[in-house]
Amino acid sequence: MARLPVVGGNWKMHTARGEAVALLSALRRELDGLAGAQVVICPPAPWLGDAADALAGTTLEVGAQDVHWEPKGAFTGAVSAPMLASVASWVIVGHSERRYLFGETAEETNAKLRASLAAGLSPILAVGERQEEIGRVADVLAAQLTEGFRGIERLPADVVIAYEPVWAIGTGLAATPDDAQARCALIRTMLAERFNTASADACRIQYGGSVITGNIEDYAKQPDIDGALVGGASLDAAAFATICRAVAAA
Ligand code: 13P
Repeated sequence: MARLPVVGGNWKMHTARGEAVALLSALRRELDGLAGAQVVICPPAPWLGDAADALAGTTLEVGAQDVHWEPKGAFTGAVSAPMLASVASWVIVGHSERRYLFGETAEETNAKLRASLAAGLSPILAVGERQEEIGRVADVLAAQLTEGFRGIERLPADVVIAYEPVWAIGTGLAATPDDAQARCALIRTMLAERFNTASADACRIQYGGSVITGNIEDYAKQPDIDGALVGGASLDAAAFATICRAVAAA
């Protein structure tokens, strides 16, 4: 089954506004019109409007890095899915930095996923084991998928899974392509059991964790890896463009 790969650039809490605007226009120059991969740029929340303007009319799409599960209300500092939907079409949900640095619970991840879908946003659900969980990675992934999709009957076509082993994020210690492939295949099997084979086969599953220009080709050619979620390397327009092109060409 041919799946269109998706490459996400998760800028995390980086860039001053001028840097963000410059990066957006460089990405537009480098990547607009790229065929063979979807490209999603996820800048910090204050620059989402700039991203929406800079990327309007291009093939590049805008994503948010997080979302609150309530549509509105007295939640100081939070941003809702309906708000995001006017400047973004994607949102990362359950990133390990949200789960483990900010104490996001499985129930909250699930509520965020549901709120995103209800608002018409395409969620990128991030899952992955911590260093101390490597010995029971299958259990960890099963729990994160079960809890993440609680209450969801059918796997929507616009949900992307990002397999991001926490120990590989920002460390330079990327998972081996074989291990990443095995985990992504395992996730696909779990999706087939939870939903059905057709929707599991159609679901895009990214690898994330120290993806750089020098290793992307090895991930992109794996049969169950459908793109990447890129942190550090997404802050460099030339490097990120090289990564996107490698995915598109695989
Ligand atoms: P790095 O590419 O910096 O390891 O970050 C990966 C990540 O967390 C993307 O969401």
